[in-house]
Parts: sequence; structure tokens; C-alpha cells
Amino acid sequence: MRFSSLPPSSLLAALFLASSAIATPLPEVPERFPHAILARAPVPPQEDPFYAKPSDDQFARRPAGAIIRQRSATPGQFTILPQNLASAEQVIYKTIDLQGNPEVNALTVFMPKKTDLNADGLPKTLVYQVAEDSPNSNCAPSIQLQKGGSGNLVIQLESIFINAALAKNWIVVVPDYQGPRSGFTAGKLAGTGVLDAARATLRVSSIVEPSRAGRLPLALMGYSGGALASGWALQQQKEYAPELSSNLVAAALGGLPVNVEDILLKLNGGPMAGLVVSGLAGQYNVRPELQEFFTDHLNADGFSRLREANGTCLPQIILANGGVDFVSKLDMTQEELLREPVVRKTLDESFLGVGAGVLPIPVYAYHATNDDVVGTEFADKYYADQISRGATITYDREIVSEHLLAFVTGFGSAIQYLEARFAGVAAPPSSTQTRLLNLLQPTAIAQLGPTVLAQIQALLGIPSGSLFSSNA
Ligand SMILES: *[C@@H]1O[C@H](CO)[C@@H](O)[C@H](O)[C@H]1NC(C)=O
Repeated sequence: MRFSSLPPSSLLAALFLASSAIATPLPEVPERFPHAILARAPVPPQEDPFYAKPSDDQFARRPAGAIIRQRSATPGQFTILPQNLASAEQVIYKTIDLQGNPEVNALTVFMPKKTDLNADGLPKTLVYQVAEDSPNSNCAPSIQLQKGGSGNLVIQLESIFINAALAKNWIVVVPDYQGPRSGFTAGKLAGTGVLDAARATLRVSSIVEPSRAGRLPLALMGYSGGALASGWALQQQKEYAPELSSNLVAAALGGLPVNVEDILLKLNGGPMAGLVVSGLAGQYNVRPELQEFFTDHLNADGFSRLREANGTCLPQIILANGGVDFVSKLDMTQEELLREPVVRKTLDESFLGVGAGVLPIPVYAYHATNDDVVGTEFADKYYADQISRGATITYDREIVSEHLLAFVTGFGSAIQYLEARFAGVAAPPSSTQTRLLNLLQPTAIAQLGPTVLAQIQALLGIPSGSLFSSNA
């Protein structure tokens, strides 16, 4: 088995420097491929009236999750490749911003060619949170997953996972949960964005008739930034959207960021310091009080890094900020910074699980024990605390991989867990186990399907057959 000898840095390179990864031939390229290159870049959300928030009184009175606008969409994998689906739609739905004011978000519906129905004859529907991780709405999935969309390669890689769910004949719904001001790391905002996307999903007539919407089976899933959004949705569901209890069947959370403060401080000054800049720019965009604080205390270089991050997407932000000590751009020590009321409020409100109730649905959790971006310490504590309070969680810790690799290796088991819940099989009792590699569970590999496996191998630069052919 050669998987363990893969240096994590090669995956990082594939993700962030991606030109070689994109140049790697992908399977099933149709004849019309050369014409697809001519696909024009979609109009950016900030310039597209489709995304605009209505200003009339009627809008303020609509319920959260109401559909404001709808149009058909043309998804493309990796900017130019067609996707194996029947159709796609985009929906603008009503939600709230971090302060609770009416706001709009976009979501994209990916329709499989066939739909797999549950025992009630309703289509299995996955609400999938991608890791946008950028403070800029042009990096959101509703544009990045369209033909011609480019700039946020991490999201584009996730089209592989969307394909795997479509191959299960599940409907896939992908919300722009960060909202139009792109509040990356603002967990509460992401959570309400996801829950209102779920509500909007029940109102999409091509998915379910209104009279049966109350039973449409929904699963939530996300990795890293996508797990943050999914985790915050679960945390707020009972209070914010109690009616969804009859829809939600299970969730899968991978590489869950629990304590944003701990993550930002650990990444500051290191190779992934761009996530610090991106996260702070995201919080800046949705918290007026933080804008004031930065204006008073951040130096010119710090500000220009925030502004630059605001104009690009995560891969560029990572490249531009490697090794940057962002805390040193403020006119105070780290200890002083962490005592500032505005900063404390931001960080405390971004700590998942503090004072929270029990997870409302069964959860499959996966995390690399050597996660170099989102350490396991707080995820371990969070899941242990939830299990001790009665939550149903299957928690697989994985030794061999790190953050980006576990994204890929945990996916099969996650899909398998959700599939069983969609089928009505009761979730197994809570358990925590540490495995060498989740992907080594043979049934997990099967979940990915040959096409998706081939794509993953191509992206990792591994010759076909060598990765999963061992009998280890
Ligand atoms: C990012 O852009 C938005 C929209 O133009 C703006 O309101 C916000 O202040 C900008 N944020 C930063 C960190 O520059």
C-alpha cells in the first residue's frame, strides 16, 4: 500500500499550485471539450442583479427560507468540464445576517439523472457545504461550480465529492452559506445560512411537492470550513428551525473547526497563515464593531493584506501570506489583543459547542490525528462532550493523513454512513476509534465509485491502479 508514503505536501501543492493538477487528463472528456473552453466566466454575484436583496416591504415579511428568485444553471467541473447530471438550478432564498436582519443567500441544486427515493418515495437530498474559506462572494460555490467559474480551486475539487453523491442518485444542494458579505469563520451566520437553505430546499418544486415537503429526507455534510457551517447549523437547529426535525436524518462532519481562536493562533506565522487573514477578513466583513477596531489598531501592511484577501480566493490568499505574523501588524501584544472586548466577542461567538445542546441527529465524524490545520484537541473534546450528553456520534480518527488528505480519505465512510440513515437503518451507538486510514475500509472505497476514484488518483498525480489496488 503506497498511500502512506505520499508526502502531504504533494497534495498541498496539487491543491494550491494546481496548474499541474488541472493539466492532468481527467477521464471521460467528451468531444465537445474544446468548445467548452469558450464558456464565459459567470457574472460576479456583486454585479449580477439575480443576487440582489429586494428592498420592498414584502421581502421583510417573507419567512426565512422563502424563495426570492430561481433560474436554471450550467455547472462545470474545474471551470470547463461538464458534469454528469440531469439539470441544475440556482435559488435566491431569504435568510438573516449575523445581526439578525433580513438578508438573501444563493444555493445551487444539482439534479441527478435518476433520483433515489426513500421508503416514503421521497428523494434523498444532501445539503452539502463546500469549504469556501474566502472573504469574497466571487469565491462562493454558486459561481465557482458553474461553467467558467475559476479562482477557488478547493471548491472545484469538491465537485468530485458532489459527483460521488450524484452517482448515488441523491439530489445535492450547495448553499452559499457565508452570505453576500462572505463572513468566513462566522459560525452562527454559516449555520443559519445552511438551515435557511434547507428550508428553501423544501420549497423547490422540482425536488418535492409542497404537501410532502415536511418529510423530505435531508442529510448535511461538510469538511473543514464546510463542517464548521454544518456543525453550527446542527447547533442552532432546535431553536432556529425546529420544524426541520422531521427532515434531517444525519450529518457528516470532517476536520471540524471547533475553536477558531485556537486555530488562528496556531496558524499565525506559519505556512497556512493565509487562513488567518482570510478568517479575519471574513469576520471584518460581517461585524461593524470589528471594522472599527481594525481601523484603530491595524497597521498599513495588515490592512492591505485584508483588502487584498478580500479581492481574491483562498488559494491566492494562502500563497500571498505564507509565514505572515498577522498579530504583529496590530499595535498591541497577543495577550492584549485577546483581552480586547470586540476581539473576545468575535472569538467567543466562533467557539462551537459552548453552552450548546445535544446534537439533534446522528453524526459521522472524521478527523486526522495529525491534522496540521485544524488540530484534533478541540474536536476530540467536542465529540466526547456530546457523546457524554447523549448525542449519537461515530467518530473515526485517522492516523496516516493530515488535513487535506483526510478530506479525501474520510469521504467514502461518510457517504456510507449517510446512505444507511437515508435507508432508515438506525444509527449505531456512539463510538470513537482511531484507524490507520479510513479509506482502507473496503466498503468505504466502493462508495467513491470508479470515476471519482480515477479523478482523485489523477489529482494526486498517482498512476491509475496503484493507489487502491493493494490488498492491504
Ligand atoms: C471587502 O469588500 C466589501 C465589498 O466591497 C467591503 O464592504 C468590505 O469592507 C471589504 N473588506 C475588507 C476587509 O476590505
